Amino acid sequence: MYKIAIIGGDGTGPEVIDEGKKVLSAACEMNNIKLEYTNFDVGGERYLKTGEILPESVLNDLRKFDAIYLGAIGHPDVKPGILEKGILLKARFELDQYINLRPVKLFPGVETPIKDKGPDEIDFVVIRENVGGIYTGMGGASRVGTPYEVASQVMVYDRNTVDRCLKYAFELKQKRNAKQKKYSEKPMHLVHKNNVLTYCGDLWVRAYNEMGEKEYKGIKRDYAHVDAATMWFLKNPEWFDVVVTENLFGDIITDLGAMIGGGMGVSAGGNINPDGVSMFEPIGGSAPKYKGQNVINPIAAILAGSMMMDFLGEDKVAQDIENAIRKVVLEMTSMNAGKMGMTTTQIGDKVAKYCS
Ligand code: IPM
Ligand code: MN
Repeated sequence: MYKIAIIGGDGTGPEVIDEGKKVLSAACEMNNIKLEYTNFDVGGERYLKTGEILPESVLNDLRKFDAIYLGAIGHPDVKPGILEKGILLKARFELDQYINLRPVKLFPGVETPIKDKGPDEIDFVVIRENVGGIYTGMGGASRVGTPYEVASQVMVYDRNTVDRCLKYAFELKQKRNAKQKKYSEKPMHLVHKNNVLTYCGDLWVRAYNEMGEKEYKGIKRDYAHVDAATMWFLKNPEWFDVVVTENLFGDIITDLGAMIGGGMGVSAGGNINPDGVSMFEPIGGSAPKYKGQNVINPIAAILAGSMMMDFLGEDKVAQDIENAIRKVVLEMTSMNAGKMGMTTTQIGDKVAKYCS
């Protein structure tokens, strides 16, 4: 039995999470696993009503769960930054979810904007360091509003934060290499910008090479500057298997990755604390204009559910869900909201059916 905290959140978040729960229930039942859900009312509506964002009490409750299943955060009536910082980033920081795992994996039948590339070429995973760098929030502003205004926002990293992220990446690469020959033939990549970020970049590159030399001799290492990496993601996605990078670069290249992998409708991610409580989410956002219309694509949320089960050690359930998704996307006309040839709930029903 697993205890799952549910944060539907804003916009279409609750709708896609409902479909995800439907599928998880079906897949878990088939495998004799029980999930116990607890709902948390967190998001823009609560903030507008009560002024509360992510109260300490909620955060402490969340610590008691096996995992968190999150819909989306972001409300059109709330100034940008408040909910993102106050809920999503706060949860990542406070629960020390230092890995953001974002697979870029094109399923057969799903369209990619890259000409002449398909599921064989688009199958990698980005590990984004999730609690450091510019997101730490160090910096400040003064003389605001005057012609002499100054602002700074600092990229900070310490060796331990870098090392634990790299370790996760090397371990994942090792697992993938053992799983498929295709993966083992590819190097892993560190993405940074050490030709300009000579302090942070140097720290990452040295840590990467030292760890690789000492502990993971069998793993081929490569390095790419972040600007070049965006170019190669498009031109040669088949070069990549495991990509590890710092927080902001990871934020940027994973949106590109999501598009390559079929779009926001099918992209999921995990905010992972390997020794704590992790949080799984579709990465497409709250899409408020589609709220309540039964047109949003729930596949990303369902995939996040599959990632959650994988993380909990239930590989069979995770694989069952992924297999069911693979069947259903073949029956969909598009991955985009409103053009799927099916409603949100119909897709959820179908995936659930194929799981059982
Ligand atoms: C993401 C998002 C967040 C981030 C925002 C909403 C704070 O873009 O999860 O990628 O920048 O990490
Ligand atoms: Mn982002």
